Amino acid sequence: MDFVGEHILSVDQFERTDIDQVFRVADMMEPYAHRVKVTRVLQGAILSNMFFEPSTRTRVSFGCAFNLLGGDVRETTDMGSSAIAKGESLQDFARVISGYSDVIAMRHPDEGSVAEFASASRAPVINGGDGTNEHPSQALLDLYTMQKELWSRRKTIDGLRIAVIGDLKYGRAVHSLLKLLAVFDAVNVHLVAPPDLSIPMDIVEFLQSRGHSVTTFDRLEEGIQSVDILYVTRTQEERFSSQQEADRYRGLFRLNQTVYTKHCEPNTVIMHPLPRDSRRSAQELSEDLDSNPNLAIFRQTDNGILIRMALFALVLDIVDRVDDYAAGVTWNTRKRRS
Ligand code: NCD
Repeated sequence: MDFVGEHILSVDQFERTDIDQVFRVADMMEPYAHRVKVTRVLQGAILSNMFFEPSTRTRVSFGCAFNLLGGDVRETTDMGSSAIAKGESLQDFARVISGYSDVIAMRHPDEGSVAEFASASRAPVINGGDGTNEHPSQALLDLYTMQKELWSRRKTIDGLRIAVIGDLKYGRAVHSLLKLLAVFDAVNVHLVAPPDLSIPMDIVEFLQSRGHSVTTFDRLEEGIQSVDILYVTRTQEERFSSQQEADRYRGLFRLNQTVYTKHCEPNTVIMHPLPRDSRRSAQELSEDLDSNPNLAIFRQTDNGILIRMALFALVLDIVDRVDDYAAGVTWNTRKRRS
């Protein structure tokens, strides 16, 4: 795909070559992310970071990624203090905000809302999570992390064996990840969830239509055997109709070092989109795994910066100019959507 000026709303937009392109640019960003090199290529550009649902790492890493490219970030985090609270439509809101911004990252509690906003936006919009639907930048950083972790184990995403565990019904990170994995070859997926929190059927059908193997488990100990990667998720309590209902699922699946040692192959990678629920009653991913070198959760968050820098660079068409800072070249607004 031609990324320039595009909205990034869904992983459905990505073919394998597009994923490779994002990862190549992400690799290029490493010296800048680690402050070995400095660029101000986006000097004068503004990111509007609009997060209308709780978020720490996604919001902050979008902001840091933009700052590392030299741009400025404006944060809006409270729907109650935005004009949406006065009844403004998402489209009017987009017409206004996109006039102030060069790119927009947005999270919103309703499925499809970010696409609706984007339909009226004059600046490219990146979906930071829309309800239970999608979280494309998370899926890309997860896949990028998987590729790196597997590389050191002499394995690839083609032929990957993965267990996705937890709330697969409401978890948008898993929805995007599984759809993205579907563009690879011969993936073997273990779905480990309570029956009431199973993955939407269309995602299973999509994986199967692409020739992947999908097996369902409702016992953690069975589902985590014979895989390369465990992808653990939190019960999305905020999506349930009542706290009482959400409480029924809290603490059902708990991965800890004892369970891991007993049931997993040696060196199985452990991932989680975070935040993990560390309350005693939950603990889907125990802190006793923190000293396990296969725990990749903080490598995932570090990789999030690289992936988000890459997305900005591609969408704003500055990939070839990141190094030009020394020559005094700065970003300009020629590439806006009309
Ligand atoms: C995820 C999300 O918001 O969907 N978090 C994140 O962005 N890293 C997962 C979650 O909240 O459980």
